[in-house]
Amino acid sequence: MTIDRAVIPVAGLGTRLLPTTKAVPKEMLPAGRLPIIHHVVEELIAAGIRRILFVSSRQKGAIENHFDDYSSLLMHLELDGRDVREMGRFDYRQRGIEFFFTRQQVPLGETKPLGTGDAVASAESFVGGSDFVVAYGDSIIASPNPPGLVERMIGSHEEHRSACTIGAWEVRPEMVGHYGILVPGQTGGDPADIRLADIIEKPAPGTTDSRLAVSARYVFAPEIFDTIRAVAPSETGEIYLTDAIHRLIRNGRVVRSVRLREDETRYDIGNHSAYFRTFIDFALKDPEWGEEMAAYLSERLAGGSARTGGRDDPGGAG
Ligand code: UTP
Repeated sequence: MTIDRAVIPVAGLGTRLLPTTKAVPKEMLPAGRLPIIHHVVEELIAAGIRRILFVSSRQKGAIENHFDDYSSLLMHLELDGRDVREMGRFDYRQRGIEFFFTRQQVPLGETKPLGTGDAVASAESFVGGSDFVVAYGDSIIASPNPPGLVERMIGSHEEHRSACTIGAWEVRPEMVGHYGILVPGQTGGDPADIRLADIIEKPAPGTTDSRLAVSARYVFAPEIFDTIRAVAPSETGEIYLTDAIHRLIRNGRVVRSVRLREDETRYDIGNHSAYFRTFIDFALKDPEWGEEMAAYLSERLAGGSARTGGRDDPGGAG
């Protein structure tokens, strides 16, 4: 049976985006007209995912509310004579999509959750012995043309019976030290889909020639849970998914990477600069307002003054 379950870790504190994220989860910040997490969910559905577990925390209730049943709101809008075609697309119950929620606990004496490895570990009973996707809730992979990255990863994972398949993208040489870096295990063949010889978390300069970085999307066989249990926590107490994948490779298991295509973009919303750029890109892509946004940005960059009223909004009375 093809993979239809995904786990989205959303329990992190989002400290790099403070104070924006003091009360609003970073995954709920908008990119264009949808919250970031909503783009992630649509990306997974396009790849054939039907059951999604959010690994959440006490501060992230807004995510659960956002994916709550829409039907009474839709009925209200319809009775009000409003066009609900666009909103109707988000009636996930109608589309046969199920959402589940669990919480990543902060252990007694700790001040933060114990990392992405620990978040994935809490999905074991949801996964129930089948292969599954992990997608970080603060990263969007935009694929303008199908099949998208996750769909290609699932195809590769099933074809090669891999223990783990990692979404990958090429980063600039000076950025290598900021990412989990993938070391190819073979030369030749299709560079879009390769077996890996190693994964190194934030390598020091000169450690590797590879510029292939992990891109917040994974497919795992259920043996990842035993592997995570065998991994020692880092000095900060966190359990890194990278360390568990390193262990899979060391144990001779098949770990492969599938690379983003030229036409695909990874949006990682970790800090304010990346978030601002993401919002601008999605606003520019908006089918209704994109052109107007582009004209406004050009005007502002040419020295024009700020103007908040849109084409059918004079900017409010005052
Ligand atoms: P990040 O490490 O980028 O997010 O995790 P963070 O910890 O929230 O960020 P900072 O460093 O404090 O700013 C990537 C994704 O994994 C989730 C996060 O919510 C984010 O969506 N995550 C992270 C967990 O679910 N649990 C964790 O223990 C850590």
